[in-house]
Amino acid sequence: MAFKGVLRPGLIQIRVLEMAEALNHYQNILGLDVVSEESDGRVYLKGWDEFDHHSVVLRPAESAGLDFVAFKVDSADYLQEIEPKIVAWGMEVDHVAAGEQPGVGPRIGFTLPSGHRIELYHEIELSDDAPGVVNPEIYTKRPHGMGASRFDHLLCYGPNIGKVREFFCDVLDFYQPEKVDMPEGEDSLAIWLTASNKAHDIAFVEHEEPGKLHHVAFLLQDWNEVGAAADIIAINDVSLDIGPTRHGITRGQTIYFFDPCGNRNEVYAGGYTAYPDHPVRTWDFEHVGKGIFYYERALNDRFLTVLT
Ligand SMILES: [Fe+2]
Repeated sequence: MAFKGVLRPGLIQIRVLEMAEALNHYQNILGLDVVSEESDGRVYLKGWDEFDHHSVVLRPAESAGLDFVAFKVDSADYLQEIEPKIVAWGMEVDHVAAGEQPGVGPRIGFTLPSGHRIELYHEIELSDDAPGVVNPEIYTKRPHGMGASRFDHLLCYGPNIGKVREFFCDVLDFYQPEKVDMPEGEDSLAIWLTASNKAHDIAFVEHEEPGKLHHVAFLLQDWNEVGAAADIIAINDVSLDIGPTRHGITRGQTIYFFDPCGNRNEVYAGGYTAYPDHPVRTWDFEHVGKGIFYYERALNDRFLTVLT
């Protein structure tokens, strides 16, 4: 297997204010399925095309935003081997016991120089409601709502993204398919990072305030499904940010909207296939509008300033 170490962003824990409203959104609008509701108030969900027990965790809280994103790694050995490398790079590592989330084994966690908590784990039970594996049908039950097939990626805002890139690339063996340069100097305004051949598993924008979430994104199958998602947003009066449109960066087809607590969601389709030997695609600062919103060729204020 050539695909080693970190496999993908597998779990994301998001803070929500009003669970009933949030659940309606993630379940009926996005189309995720509820896996379990636990006594501490957290609710666990998954997309219809995901094999693992869950991928999205909603935690009731006083403020919206991101608790952490956890990357699944290929083995328990890797989890042990990577810990001292993270410590040697300069971050404290803590341990989360198996069972802290249903079906999930031990996790390790640390806080990036951008203020975001990242976790790594290997063990997670398979879902009872996973895609078929023996003469599999294309789905076991018809997707509902927008039909989000999986948790795909996230965009984080915070400081020190040059250091963050160094960590992901040097320690976790990610690579950078794309970046936006600052107006002057060698620093980046924004970076897209991947451990796979998705155009991005996680992205960062340089920002003063640490630990902010810009959006969490879910995969759709194609441009038609992005259009259908726009219909669902209109029919249900979901708060729209922008789209349907297309990114120059990643080439993804997209629409952005907000959950009832103010967390920004994206549903996303397409995008190029990345490989680690490809040159880094680079956007000048003056072309960032077209890079983010290819058709509009300009950013909107809300996209730049509304974070949780
Ligand atoms: Fe995105």
